[in-house]
Amino acid sequence: MKKEFAKRVKVTKRSFVREILNVAKDKSVISFAGGLPDSSLFPLEMIAKEIENTIKKGSDILQYSDAQGLKELRVELAKQYTKTKAKNILITSGSQQALDILCKAFIDKNDTIITESPTYLAALNLFREYGASIKSIDIEKGVQIKKLEKIFKSKRVKFFYTIPTFQNPTGYSWSKKEREKVAKLAKKYNILIIEDTPYNSLKYEGKQESGFDKLLPHHSITLGTFSKVLAPDFRIGWIRADEKFIQIFQTLKENSDLQSSKFFQYVALGLIKNKTLSKHTQTLQKEYRKKRDYMVEALKENFKDNIEFKIPKGGMFIWVKFKGSDTMRLFKQAINNKVAFVPAKVFYPKKKISSYARLNFTNSTFDEIKNGIKKLKDAYVRSKVIS
Ligand SMILES: Cc1ncc(COP(=O)(O)O)c(C=O)c1O
Repeated sequence: MKKEFAKRVKVTKRSFVREILNVAKDKSVISFAGGLPDSSLFPLEMIAKEIENTIKKGSDILQYSDAQGLKELRVELAKQYTKTKAKNILITSGSQQALDILCKAFIDKNDTIITESPTYLAALNLFREYGASIKSIDIEKGVQIKKLEKIFKSKRVKFFYTIPTFQNPTGYSWSKKEREKVAKLAKKYNILIIEDTPYNSLKYEGKQESGFDKLLPHHSITLGTFSKVLAPDFRIGWIRADEKFIQIFQTLKENSDLQSSKFFQYVALGLIKNKTLSKHTQTLQKEYRKKRDYMVEALKENFKDNIEFKIPKGGMFIWVKFKGSDTMRLFKQAINNKVAFVPAKVFYPKKKISSYARLNFTNSTFDEIKNGIKKLKDAYVRSKVIS
């Protein structure tokens, strides 16, 4: 049967990262591609205990309930923000659903939105699916404030989507000054800021700068998730926003999936209350810092001055410039050599050839990091000889 799909299906691409994850399932490939946590560190025993405790609450917890999410969990989540109460939080199925809800709420076809360049690929794909006209500002040499103001001035902008802390894909964080300047401009031009914060707790050194909940509480929306600090499969994220927004978002969520599973919200709540989550976050900070340092040393040792990168102070990624190479071509050589990464090209809203690549350091063992970077060096040398 021939079916004519909606126009949005034509622009919807399967994420390149998902494709790579498939390649990386091949156990012989060392993958620095996905944004995956280290599953060997998941606090399984504590999770099992909380699952047992949750079951003991009785069968009612498995019943339908309201879409905003478990009140006690929202109370806990609200504590980390300024001027935020449980009524300002909506529980979502990961922050990916939060992004989808925001698109539904704000984007009509051809509406202008702004992103960083480069930015989170799955957000870009979603914005494209909703037909947004995507403008962007470079962040690789600091936030392009002047360009941002120019866009704010010249266009009716629906929102500015940003990941200002340990960004995906660059690992960069905005300075205090940059945050303050952007907050001032957003206020002046009445622009909504959407701040995505999945990596904020994975901080290895330095000071955490204020989020937009503090700088601009009523002109900003914050997205959070348990995916990176607990486990992605919980599929629990949240939106912090003004109550009037939350009511609309809640209706949109209801239309889409009625509610997120309460069972795992109870489990997550238990892990917050018994301090497992805060202890586990400290473990992740310690272990991921070691992995980051190990990858930094392996890169330096193998590539000498053929690469450039800044050491990220948190998060999961190192953004590496492979001098004189197109990383899309390097990627093909790398896969032949059984190592994977994500070429920068896919993270830019506008097409461009790039010598940058995103390397994940949290999901590999120390041996994999050592061998994978060596394999990458061989692929780099080979791609140079061929080109
Ligand atoms: C910037 C960013 N936002 C959102 C997500 C989605 O996370 P989840 O839906 O698992 O909460 C990710 C996942 O990698 C991400 O990197």
